[in-house]
Amino acid sequence: MVNDGATALGAAQPEEAAFAHPVSSGEPILEVRGLVKHFPLTQGVLFKKQVGAVKAVDGVSFDLIKGETLGIVGESGCGKSTLAKVLMNLEQATGGSVRYKGEEISRLGGSALKAVRRNIQMVFQDPYTSLNPRMTVGDIIGEPYEIHPEVAPKGERRKAVQDLLDVVGLNPEYINRYPHQFSGGQRQRIGIARGLALKPEIIICDEPVSALDVSVQAQVINLLEQLQGEFDLSYMFIAHDLSIVRHISDRVGVMYLGKMVEIGADLEIYDHATHPYTQALLSAVPVPDPGAREHRDRIVLTGDVPSPANPPSGCRFRTRCWKAQEKCAIEEPLLARPHWLTGPAAHDSACHFASERADDGGAATEGDRSGS
Ligand SMILES: Nc1ncnc2c1ncn2[C@@H]1O[C@H](COP(=O)(O)OP(=O)(O)OP(=O)(O)O)[C@@H](O)[C@H]1O
Ligand code: SF4
Ligand SMILES: [Mg+2]
Repeated sequence: MVNDGATALGAAQPEEAAFAHPVSSGEPILEVRGLVKHFPLTQGVLFKKQVGAVKAVDGVSFDLIKGETLGIVGESGCGKSTLAKVLMNLEQATGGSVRYKGEEISRLGGSALKAVRRNIQMVFQDPYTSLNPRMTVGDIIGEPYEIHPEVAPKGERRKAVQDLLDVVGLNPEYINRYPHQFSGGQRQRIGIARGLALKPEIIICDEPVSALDVSVQAQVINLLEQLQGEFDLSYMFIAHDLSIVRHISDRVGVMYLGKMVEIGADLEIYDHATHPYTQALLSAVPVPDPGAREHRDRIVLTGDVPSPANPPSGCRFRTRCWKAQEKCAIEEPLLARPHWLTGPAAHDSACHFASERADDGGAATEGDRSGS
């Protein structure tokens, strides 16, 4: 889909200055700076008037490093899918910048833009609805070749699709079958084969295993990991569940209400999270190691997630944060490496009072709160 908002995409870069250093070493394949996506809220039937906006993505900055898997987690509605759609050009950005291999996507046109689109593909959450039930598997996987015939000329397409079926662990003879003739896990393999068809460099996986049985989830994740090595892919892997992301991610970014609140290498996030929201999410992940008992105490967040149309001032998490102070309502915490943190805890966190949970001694746990 064409991004008609190309000018807007290149125009506003509100958080570029705040993004003081790269989040990881290595060559970035995608550089996202101050990305904004607002959905207008309108009133009136004949004369629609904009009365506000849903701030689905509101100034998000990160790098995707070549060859890595960046996990993106956060509660429902925090803007994960919107972020993916904007990166895919399926939604038009309201502001900010996306650079692919150093080139601002909004400045590209014609064949250069087409090449970028070819190189960033997506695997969707629901293998039941994302595949057209009236199309054969061969047509579904081969459809992208209609737009990019240079990847597989007509005479070679059937063979190319059968090769892809083989690569994702499906029988190439299934090429004429329809989606309903496959299980959920097999359908997701079809979705992955389609994502691979154009030989992309980046695949954005939007909750690719959330709709699958637990037993099948691991198989699909293993397949994605195997394909990453085979095809030199960079992944952005979106999920609700921190435990799923942990298995596959090199780095993890945590989103809350349209913002990236913490990002770092997986061990930095899982063992040394410094943002209260990440600590709350982590506390819900079962920890088999009895030695890590203090991390096991569940932090129960009170209150609902505020509306993205009217987010709280300052820190968006403050209405649910047990550490909130006056400053949190006044000043927005920027995603940066807190200078007082050293060692593995020193990664980017958008909190005025970032600290490791074990050190802070004041984290409210389920036990603390049950008495209130
Ligand atoms: N086309 C749209 N028009 C208006 N609002 C939208 C649109 N798409 C998404 N939103 C809103 O933007 C916010 C972010 O939605 P998004 O789907 O990106 O969240 P998410 O993190 O992917 O959630 P989930 O985990 O449930 O998939 C939500 O408040 C949602 O209602
Ligand atoms: S900035 Fe304040 S409200 Fe926000 S997470 Fe940190 S302590 Fe909590
Ligand atoms: Mg989503």
